[in-house]
Amino acid sequence: MKAVRVHITGGPEVLQFEEMALPEPKAGEVRVKIHAAGVNYIDTYQRSGLYQVPRPFTLGQEAAGVVDAVGADVTEVQVGERVAYASALGAYAEYALVPAWRLVHVPEEITAAQAAAVMLQGMTAHYLACDTFPLKPGDTALIHAAAGGVGLLLIQIAKLRGARVIGTMSTEDKALLAKQNGADEVILYTETDFEPVVKQLTDGKGVDVVYDSVGKTTFDKSLNCLRPRGVMVLFGASSGPVPSFDPQVLNAKGSLFLTRPMLAHYTANRTELLQRANDLFDWMRAGKLHVRIDRTFPLYAAADAHRALQSRATKGKILLIP
Ligand SMILES: NC(=O)c1ccc[n+]([C@@H]2O[C@H](COP(=O)([O-])OP(=O)(O)OC[C@H]3O[C@@H](n4cnc5c(N)ncnc54)[C@H](OP(=O)(O)O)[C@@H]3O)[C@@H](O)[C@H]2O)c1
Repeated sequence: MKAVRVHITGGPEVLQFEEMALPEPKAGEVRVKIHAAGVNYIDTYQRSGLYQVPRPFTLGQEAAGVVDAVGADVTEVQVGERVAYASALGAYAEYALVPAWRLVHVPEEITAAQAAAVMLQGMTAHYLACDTFPLKPGDTALIHAAAGGVGLLLIQIAKLRGARVIGTMSTEDKALLAKQNGADEVILYTETDFEPVVKQLTDGKGVDVVYDSVGKTTFDKSLNCLRPRGVMVLFGASSGPVPSFDPQVLNAKGSLFLTRPMLAHYTANRTELLQRANDLFDWMRAGKLHVRIDRTFPLYAAADAHRALQSRATKGKILLIP
């Protein structure tokens, strides 16, 4: 089979498109024939070495396809069933081994591309809006990179929960897209200082929660946008990691809360995983959640997909097709 492998960390050019032996599933594992794999920012962190993974490894955390073979003791799925998953390494390939408990069945009405596009970013948006800070009517959320993969889904889920959404982004067409997906107000943070605008939009009170995946360039100002006892949800580092931080700042800025969550801890068992994935599929089938696939690349062009994602050129999901 073909796979995209990392032997040395670095820029997109380190990605190697290689021939590998077809892997055999061990007990509790399933071999999935991949129809579409999702590209996520975490893939760039693992490729660059910001997140350390023992090398060599096959990149990719998310895919949809068909069960091709099952190991011993697998009860969750059967050969031939349509499945999708997130948070298991090795998806940039024609086949991947996945722990059986991480697989979810894909409903008939949802294509493999849609399923691959929603698992990681969708379940992230789900836990952020429903659990990390459970949004409710009357809440105002500031969402950075609101026209990105997670961003567009997070806007929609925040609106489903009745919150008001202020979104930031870099371009006019991203702003339009965020509005079309439900954002109440938008700010081009590359042209305008978002802090005074957020203050003005909230009558000086500040927002209840900031969902910040941009990190380095937005973190400090984001803290200033929060109401007293507001919640700072730092969940990514698209512009680079936030430097070391003095907790006393949280006191000085109004007894703020800071959390740095990750998806794996919010899909820690099968019950929680199925609840999140099935909510997403239900909303998609009901026409309440739209998953925007920005572009697809052939698997061998994974490096181009990374370049597109990291150059801020994309609005929504990027897929790789084996
Ligand atoms: N903790 C978790 O559980 C979890 C799970 C999934 C994703 N994430 C994080 O969520 C973030 C979004 O992931 P995604 O896959 O959906 O990507 P994405 O949002 O589609 O792409 C990243 C976006 O970040 C913005 N950005 C701001 N400054 C940037 C810079 N200097 N370089 C590149 N981009 C910059 C860009 O939007 P503008 O052009 O509008 O600024 C860009 O489009 C990532 O930080 C990722 O690590 C975290």
